[in-house]
Amino acid sequence: MRGDAGDKRLAGAVRAGGPDAVVDRAPKQWGLAARGALVESGGPALVTADLDCRESVWTELAPKLYAQAAAGQWDPASAIDWTAPCDLPDEIEDAVVQVMTYLVENEQAALMVPSRFLARIHPHFREVVQFLATQVADEARHVEVFTRRAWLRGGPLGVSGAGGRASLQTLLDEPEWATASFLLSVLGEGTFLALLAFLERAAPDPVTRQVARLALQDEARHVAFAMGHLGEQLRADPGMRDRLRAAVERRHDALARTAGLAPAVHDALVVLAAGSWTPAAVASGWTAVQGLQADMDEGRRRRLVHLGFSERDAADLSALHTRNFM
Ligand SMILES: [Fe+2]
Ligand SMILES: [Fe+2]
Repeated sequence: MRGDAGDKRLAGAVRAGGPDAVVDRAPKQWGLAARGALVESGGPALVTADLDCRESVWTELAPKLYAQAAAGQWDPASAIDWTAPCDLPDEIEDAVVQVMTYLVENEQAALMVPSRFLARIHPHFREVVQFLATQVADEARHVEVFTRRAWLRGGPLGVSGAGGRASLQTLLDEPEWATASFLLSVLGEGTFLALLAFLERAAPDPVTRQVARLALQDEARHVAFAMGHLGEQLRADPGMRDRLRAAVERRHDALARTAGLAPAVHDALVVLAAGSWTPAAVASGWTAVQGLQADMDEGRRRRLVHLGFSERDAADLSALHTRNFM
């Protein structure tokens, strides 16, 4: 057979699956070998790649979503018109800066969580690793563009609330890939889809509108990936639903004594929706932010039902999701 035969040194070598065929469990002895390679025996075991089961890692969507992600990478320098007019009243600019300050810390968490698991996924599941690498790169761009918009008029930046950071810390502390992905991507980034769409609509200047729109496109992909891999896992292991539910409850209990969303962030969203400080505008801005929170809840419930939770459980879990949104 071409590539295998006639070489005594390769006695005992094994094929690491096929180029398009992932195996149920990738042996650590295959190490860094390409999927489909003829793996000579005797090399080091990749003991750090403990996420090595197809059932807990793979999604059939991975190759397609990775290709979309690779094609969808945008350049912050050219995708956004940083010279567009941005001559806002001070209180509106302050609100934009406050929201950007909040977004940056959320993006930092969204970058760190997949990074922690990326190196633990067996490289046999190549497209999953590649997808997560693009997700991390996406978050790096989001950190950049939100930071850059925040400093566009020279700062200073807004408040970083202790409650918000406590909420994000619980994501960083989540030890399991499935629960971390569920909390971050299905519930958190899913909630951010509504937030970014709201910011795109309410944006008082072109740069804010553009950064919200570009981040929203990327986040939709992150949510789709998590829905894909968790959906396939739940079909194979329906009992995992109880572990996901417990993770939401645990996180809720851990955050019960924290403030959740910083009041400064909530007020900034109201101001952006209001567009001005007249009492009538602020009242309509407040109503718009209530509507945003209803949209967020509706989206979370829809995704939970899609993952096989009952309507009742979906409503309960959505209500327990962090008030910090992510
Ligand atoms: Fe992001
Ligand atoms: Fe994301």
